[in-house]
This record gives sequence, C-alpha cells and structure tokens, in this order.
Amino acid sequence: MQTYDLFAPTTEVERHALYARMRAESGLCRIAPFGAYAASRYEDVRAVQKDAQRFSSEALATTAEPSWLGPNPVAQSLVTRDPPRHTQLRAMINRAFGPTGMARLEAQVRHEAQTLAEAAVSQREVDLVDTFSFVLPRNIIGRMLGLEPSTFTEFKRWSVNMGLITSAVPAQHAGIRDTVKEMEDYLGGVITARRRQPGEDMVSDLLRAEVEGQRLTDAEVLSFLFLLLPAGMETTAQLIGNAAILLARYPEQLEQARADRAHIPRFIEEVLRCEPPAQFAFRVAMSDVELSGTPIPAGSLVMGLVGSANRDERVFEQPDAFLPGRDKASQHLSFGHGIHFCLGAQLARMEARLALEALVPRIRALRLRTPDIEWLPGLTIHGPRTLPVKLLPA
Ligand code: HEM
Repeated sequence: MQTYDLFAPTTEVERHALYARMRAESGLCRIAPFGAYAASRYEDVRAVQKDAQRFSSEALATTAEPSWLGPNPVAQSLVTRDPPRHTQLRAMINRAFGPTGMARLEAQVRHEAQTLAEAAVSQREVDLVDTFSFVLPRNIIGRMLGLEPSTFTEFKRWSVNMGLITSAVPAQHAGIRDTVKEMEDYLGGVITARRRQPGEDMVSDLLRAEVEGQRLTDAEVLSFLFLLLPAGMETTAQLIGNAAILLARYPEQLEQARADRAHIPRFIEEVLRCEPPAQFAFRVAMSDVELSGTPIPAGSLVMGLVGSANRDERVFEQPDAFLPGRDKASQHLSFGHGIHFCLGAQLARMEARLALEALVPRIRALRLRTPDIEWLPGLTIHGPRTLPVKLLPA
C-alpha cells in the first residue's frame, strides 16, 4: 500500500492530482506522518462516516491526542463522543441550530452581511478575508455565544492555531499550547460569568440544557465551546472565501447570480463539493475492518478524505468541472454523514447565501490581485489565508 504525505507544503497545490492517484490505485493508502489509513473513494468515505459503531469518534480523544499538547481540548464535546453520550449531547444543543433558531438569526446575518459588503465594495481594493469572509461568521458566532465584541479580534489567531493541531511541526507547538491556555482562561471566564448571571445566549442555553434529568458539566461546556468557536468561524469563512475565488475564476457565474438570486444556493453547493473547507475527518477502527477490499487492523487511525470523495468519478460526472446545479449536486460529503453530520450546516449555508446575496448585486466584477492564492497552512482546513481582491462596483 502506498504512503503519502498529505501535509507537505506542496500538497495544497497538487492536492487534486494526489487524490485522483489515490482513488485510481487501491482506494486505500497510508498517510505520513502518523500512519493513518486513508479512504479516498466516495463509497468508503461515506461508509466510514456512516458506521459509528465500527469507526469510533470517541476513541479519537486518546488515539489522536498529540503528546506535546496534553489533553485534547475538544475531547469532551460531541464530535469526539459515540452513542449513547453523543445522542444525549446532540439532543441538548440541536434546538439552537434547528430551523426555528436559524429563522430567528436570518435578519441579523443579512444585516451584518449587507454592512460588511457595503464597506468592502466602497474600498474597492481589500483583503476579502479580513473585511468580509472571516468577519461575517466570526461576528455571528461571537454574538450567538454572547461574547464581548471587543474580544472578537483575538479569534482569528486562535482558530488558525487550533486548525494546525493535527499537522503542527515542533516550532508551532509552544504557540498552540499558549492559544489553548488563552482560550481556556477566556471561555472558562465566560462560563463562570453565565453561571452567575444567565442571559439569552448559547452559553447560557448550554448551561441550562437538560436531557434525561442530566445537565452538561462545566468541562463539557468548555469542550463544546472549544469546538464551536473555531468550527463556527473558520469553516464558514473558508466556504465564503472559496466561493469568492470561484466567482473571480468563473465571471459567468457572477453574471448568472446577478441575474437570478436563486442561482446562489446552487453555486454554493458546488463550491462545497469542489472545495470542501474540512478536507477530512478522523475515526478509529474498533474491529478488524475492510475498505476497498483492503484489511485495516482494529485500533488503526482511519481518515475519510472528503476532498477526494467529492471528486470521485464513480459518483460525479466530470468531477473536476465546476458545474453549479449538476446532477447529484447535494450528495457531497462536505458536512459529513450520519450521526456526526455537521450541526452548523444550515447556519453555514445561510451565512454563505446571505454573504453572496449582499456582495453579488454590488459588483460587476471580482478580480484576484495576485495570481497565486495564499492558502491556509496544513490541509485540515482548506481556504485562502488572505484574499487581496479588486471589487468593481456595479
Ligand atoms: C461537524 C463541516 C460549519 C458546528 C462537522 C463535520 C463536518 C463539518 C465535516 C463532521 C465531522 C466528523 O464527522 O467527525 C463543516 C463545514 C462548515 C461547518 C464544511 C462550513 C462550511 C459549522 C458551523 C458550526 C459547526 C457554522 C457551528 C456554529 C459543528 C459541530 C459538529 C460539526 C458542533 C459536531 C457534530 C457532531 O459530532 O454531532 N462539521 N462545518 N459547523 N460541525 Fe460543522
């Protein structure tokens, strides 16, 4: 079986060629540096996401714990839990992310998106990450959690450092440990304050939530916030950033979206398929298993390569072509599948839609000011780190 280094600095550029090779070879390969078994074909990635019994998330809390970091800060949140605890935790927080909660948020997200788009377009030459794609989801999740707006400027550094955990090189370890400590102090302080004086925010809701007579412990709320803050910002920011890049590369898509707003959700679904912000998810095999006919021993770390599955020629015709509204458009695995399906998928889709609904009518063209995109480091989260653009007003 082939071994590949997915985290080498050159991989970002060659990613799709590498994925295609993996799919064409045996479908299963090993990933340096930690020897995980990686599934690259759609059926296998979906099977790993779907079968929570054979592919555990809970076992990750210890198996994928980097020794230089100490206890995994998200270990007690639902993303690293299996049933029955996962089912209980999810029930406690599902409500906030359901259709009613989202409908309540829509006007706020629209207003924020319009304000940011107006300011960005009036400047004409901006870094779209700093002014728009990151700021929108950051402000929304910050407000949902009831956090103090003057602290929002710290969140970017935190989320970049948290996103580096899987692929960090030794020189980055100290900085990441400092970030974890800083976040622990900050979020711990928020929990203490909300216990004393509950409000109408999600942290207070989490502290009040009860399922089968049980409440979340402070450690579980802290762990959930460690997951939610970066998850709520970085992935959605990358979806909006990747969408902007594709609007620049396919000007006819911008035209179509300007002519018909109903095109925007179709466009976003295709961005999600082609450029998924979360490129893979880890699991641990709980028994000896097989993927694409290749055995994987119990206890192995398994990666489902979503970025590859979404371009599997066995499922999607012309997988490398960007075709909004294509057949099977929504079958991508970018929000996962099964019991861990992304809790924030509706929120992310709404934010991206309202972001484009605010930006698109204000511009007649979006031009990238540098030919090469500066991507985020590591392959965990895929999207632009900075995005210098020229916005030509409509
Ligand atoms: C889970 C992707 C936005 C909160 C997941 C998973 C994926 C994902 C792939 C499954 C992980 C796994 O199977 O191990 C994305 C993408 C987003 C996005 C691509 C944006 C485009 C958000 C937002 C929030 C959020 C906005 C919250 C504000 C969560 C949570 C889970 C999760 C809490 C864990 C669910 C569980 O384990 O039951 N996300 N996400 N995500 N996501 Fe998202």
